[in-house]
Amino acid sequence: MAENSLQSCKITLRPIQLSDIDDFMLWAKDDRVSHYCMWETYTSRDQALDFLTNIAIPHPWFRVICIDNRAIGSITVTPNSGNDRCRAELGYVLAYEHWGKGIVTKAVKMVASSIFNEWKHLERLEAFVDVDNKGSQRVLEKAGFVREGVFRKHVIMKGKSRDRVVFSLVSSDQSF
Ligand SMILES: CC(C)(COP(=O)(O)OP(=O)(O)OC[C@H]1O[C@@H](n2cnc3c(N)ncnc32)[C@H](O)[C@@H]1OP(=O)(O)O)[C@@H](O)C(=O)NCCC(=O)NCCS
Repeated sequence: MAENSLQSCKITLRPIQLSDIDDFMLWAKDDRVSHYCMWETYTSRDQALDFLTNIAIPHPWFRVICIDNRAIGSITVTPNSGNDRCRAELGYVLAYEHWGKGIVTKAVKMVASSIFNEWKHLERLEAFVDVDNKGSQRVLEKAGFVREGVFRKHVIMKGKSRDRVVFSLVSSDQSF
């Protein structure tokens, strides 16, 4: 079903711009989207502008997921440095009205098929997902990531320590 829904719309990824602010607010102010994320739901446009200006735009790999060049979500690859530079962390969010159409799976596959060529030093793309965030775990499984296990009490999210599932794709896994 998801793949069929996608046939009618073309997903593209591009860097975020300040002019995306109103679209960004659509997901950033939505508790349903932020529920399993480390960030708190945005309550003001100024807060979002600050994030775009100081974090998202300067970020080394922050892309918006677009339909017809209109931002409907975001996907990020955050690098590490020093002896951790072989790995980078994947993250993504999608505006609620677009959930369940295969869009993030498609976006993750696009990133997975290009990032190891773009960053030649990169050997491992990893993602940490709350144990209860079944939709996100399914996205990674569908995109070919390996479920490696559960890190117990791995992070404080919204004031409580949470178990997280770790997924990875390594450069030698690539069959795409
Ligand atoms: C998680 C999220 C990114 C998924 O994006 P999406 O485009 O809706 O995902 P897809 O449509 O590509 O795939 C979702 C899959 O999860 C499944 N799914 C969704 N909710 C589920 C649940 N509660 N239990 C089990 N499976 C679930 C869907 O059925 C689908 O699998 P299928 O194709 O086998 O039917 C989106 O819901 C989101 O933005 N959530 C809030 C932010 C977030 O959690 N980000 C990830 C932080 S690690």
